[in-house]
Amino acid sequence: KSSPAGAPERLPFSKVTDEDLAYFRKILPGRTITDPDLVESSNVDWLKTVKGSSEVLLRPQTTEEVSQILRYCYNRNLAVNPQGGNTGLVGGSVPVYDEIILSTSLMNNILTFDNISGILTCQAGCVLENLSLYLEERDYIMPLDLGAKGSCQIGGNVATNAGGLRLLRYGSLHGTVLGLEVVLADGRVLDCLATLRKDNTGYDLKQLFIGSEGTLGVITAVSILCPRKPKSTNVVFLGCETFEELLKTFQLCRGMLGEILSAFEFLDSECMRLLNTHLKLPNPISDCPFYIVIETSGSDPDHDSQKLDNFLEEAIASTFVTDGTVATEESKIKALWSMRERVTEALTHDGFTYKYDISLPVERIYQLVTDMRQHLGDRAKSVVGYGHVGDGNLHLNITSPAKDPALLAAIEPFVYEWTASCQGSISAEHGLGLKKRNYIYYSKPSQAVALMGNIKAMLDPKGILNPYKTLPDNLK
Ligand code: FAD
Ligand code: MLT
Ligand code: ZN
Repeated sequence: KSSPAGAPERLPFSKVTDEDLAYFRKILPGRTITDPDLVESSNVDWLKTVKGSSEVLLRPQTTEEVSQILRYCYNRNLAVNPQGGNTGLVGGSVPVYDEIILSTSLMNNILTFDNISGILTCQAGCVLENLSLYLEERDYIMPLDLGAKGSCQIGGNVATNAGGLRLLRYGSLHGTVLGLEVVLADGRVLDCLATLRKDNTGYDLKQLFIGSEGTLGVITAVSILCPRKPKSTNVVFLGCETFEELLKTFQLCRGMLGEILSAFEFLDSECMRLLNTHLKLPNPISDCPFYIVIETSGSDPDHDSQKLDNFLEEAIASTFVTDGTVATEESKIKALWSMRERVTEALTHDGFTYKYDISLPVERIYQLVTDMRQHLGDRAKSVVGYGHVGDGNLHLNITSPAKDPALLAAIEPFVYEWTASCQGSISAEHGLGLKKRNYIYYSKPSQAVALMGNIKAMLDPKGILNPYKTLPDNLK
């Protein structure tokens, strides 16, 4: 018996009994959910490609409650699946079998905000967009932004080390997260919730949990360094004839916009076709093979628009770009951003989506899309490329009318071998979850993976936290 994504057989964890439910109901009255209709949506991932069969959803509100749950589950050998906004794209956020779902959705309090340092401390279940709105009222912003902001939670973002649209400017969560509170598998609370920019007292343990996908501990609170809200923001949507010209535009942009550049994203004409067809979003410029979204954020509107004008003049004169439009007011900025942010949603309407999230040397990123198209011929419905050019991160997505094992066999391991041949990463920002765990060796040496196994065994000796995820099957 195996799960849809080919998980190993169910490991010998205990099964939830009436006595267990009675305990959970005692510590979480009204927040121990067993009604199958209510548990259902937490069993299915955002892409609707992975489905578990959990019968219990726990909704703690405090760290102490999370600690009580894990202490109990550890002693009883019950497996637990931590869950935030359930927007993860690699099948890590839902159970594979009957793991208990521990949702952080009710842990949504902001704890402190320091208006001088810009350091925010909050519970893990705060929705990213709510944090952004809270900060904007105080002239700050979150250092990360992603298309899933309306549902994803900061704990989930940290657990996946989400990248997103602002990483080019503000760096990864490994730099902006200053502290974490984590409940370990046996219920111990690890308080590393520091709010210091600098702290070299021993090993930086919080880093272990950033990107650990719920396999090493449950993150219950986060402190994060937030940038000031820019006084001026501009978004430009440009069209290019070739990917080489797009890269030249990137070079020019870095040179001429310098410190005000806050995003450089791309999508190809196939993405545009899906946006037009499935979401009825019209192309804001003329049809081109490639489109770029550039964002600038700065502190002086006149200075920023002067720089942007100079850059655009040069880009047009050098014929790197063939068409474009600029937005300075909020509604047009949002409309242009949605052309990039809503590609993921457009794909879900195109059919069953095979998603790849690849890091490569930036000059190689589109070659993979071209090679994949040629390799698959007419076996795929759509083969599209988009992503974070500024970070060397390609999103290659392939659709088919329905799930298609023969198509999958043509895509994998081709895509992983191609990536490894360029020393790329088979997961740039989405993590490994259930779907990618066994491909880790394409991007990490076996010694590194073995050490990961040792760390897992030390922090979670019974393996109750998010089993079947992240680490390859040969380590379980
Ligand atoms: P979930 O999906 O609930 O969980 C994700 C993983 O983290 C699971 O393994 C889960 O077990 C674990 N987890 C969740 N909460 C905790 C916790 N408190 N403690 C321990 N483990 C926990 N990702 C990017 O990197 N960049 C993007 O630009 C981006 N854009 C996206 C756009 C869309 C439309 C969608 C649907 C997804 C996108 N993602 C992106 C995927 C991304 O991983 C998630 O959106 C987000 O970071 C996950 O947060 P979540 O709260 O939904 O976590
Ligand atoms: C994005 O950059 O849009 C996200 O990572 C989601 C996706 O890959 O579709
Ligand atoms: Zn992305």
